[in-house]
Amino acid sequence: MAEIVTQKPVSATLHSLTHVDGLPSSYARENTRPEPAVLNATKSYSLDSLPLELALGKNVSLDHLSDTVSRYSSTGLIRRLLNNHGAILFKGLGLKNATEFSQFATAFGWLPHEDIGNPVRRTVLAHNVATANEGPNTQPVYPHNEFGLSPHYPAYVFFYALSAPETGGETPINSSIKLYERLEEEIPEFLTALEEKGVRYQLFFPNRPREDVSSPGTSVFQSYGKAVLDTDDTETARSKIEAEIRRLPTATWQWENQSSENPLGDLRVFQKLPAIRLHEQTGKKAFFNNIISRYLNAKNNQTLDPPYLNKEGAYQPPALYADGSPIPHEYLEKAVQIVEETRSLVSWTAGDVLLLDNHAIQHGREPWTGDRKLLASLWDESKQSK
Ligand SMILES: [Fe+2]
Repeated sequence: MAEIVTQKPVSATLHSLTHVDGLPSSYARENTRPEPAVLNATKSYSLDSLPLELALGKNVSLDHLSDTVSRYSSTGLIRRLLNNHGAILFKGLGLKNATEFSQFATAFGWLPHEDIGNPVRRTVLAHNVATANEGPNTQPVYPHNEFGLSPHYPAYVFFYALSAPETGGETPINSSIKLYERLEEEIPEFLTALEEKGVRYQLFFPNRPREDVSSPGTSVFQSYGKAVLDTDDTETARSKIEAEIRRLPTATWQWENQSSENPLGDLRVFQKLPAIRLHEQTGKKAFFNNIISRYLNAKNNQTLDPPYLNKEGAYQPPALYADGSPIPHEYLEKAVQIVEETRSLVSWTAGDVLLLDNHAIQHGREPWTGDRKLLASLWDESKQSK
């Protein structure tokens, strides 16, 4: 690979982080043998800077980079960096396509995450690599944990810029752990209510042809119909779809709009879940959920209050407490304010990769102009990296 360093390396290399700004010596324990720097810290940082930025060294091939991150992951270094920072931005990697991104992400040694009931359409492009949310460029994606509205969510999320936007298009990230801590200081009664009641989400999946890509959302067949054959009758299709939904033990569902033109019907799935979950690696509590994104979407669509119907008459409520009672808007406004105060905006250069500890970090998307293409790769924890 040609030299692809885009940022001037600074003196702090990954294996000398122990000497910089109070970072723990445990960062460097397994990585002290002399070697040309593969990844360099790009700027001064503190123990919890968000994200930690690392840039590729000079003349490092993709194979060498992959071997290095594989070792950093298996020795626990990546995990320790994530425990402190929550997110790592790999700059100047120069990855040219989905296949190269896949090789890089696979090198960390984690297990591919299987989507179950994904409400957002993604197109698969390489091993465990798909397009990120394909929504329109004018529409922000509000802060959320990936699959925070499901009991089945990935431990790690990579984003890769196949092409960068002309303007905007940043990925905002904020700490779910810090958000919990700030809410505990400022409105502990909200956290008490959340812990006691949990939250309820609803997701609507229209019955559309499997190949329909007219909306960024998914349909019944795209989300839950992978076992359904074109030759299956309605009852068989429905039972296969329900078997797939049952894989999420917290889900309930109902079929709607059944008619002679739509014998299967559209599907509405409900999830009752905790909104606060323990971040195992640090033992800290995290505000892990999709409450804020649901709230801001409902606010945008003027569906914050009963009967929660948008202009087209569709039921689009914010997240509710699991007993069906509303979450007070002032609590959610405070949460939005804290996110805005604590978030970082990640700007994209083509070839860069952002790695998130999904449990610890929420992400979103800013509107953009130009040809922004982000790919995503989702992974579960492997036994070795725990
Ligand atoms: Fe997401």
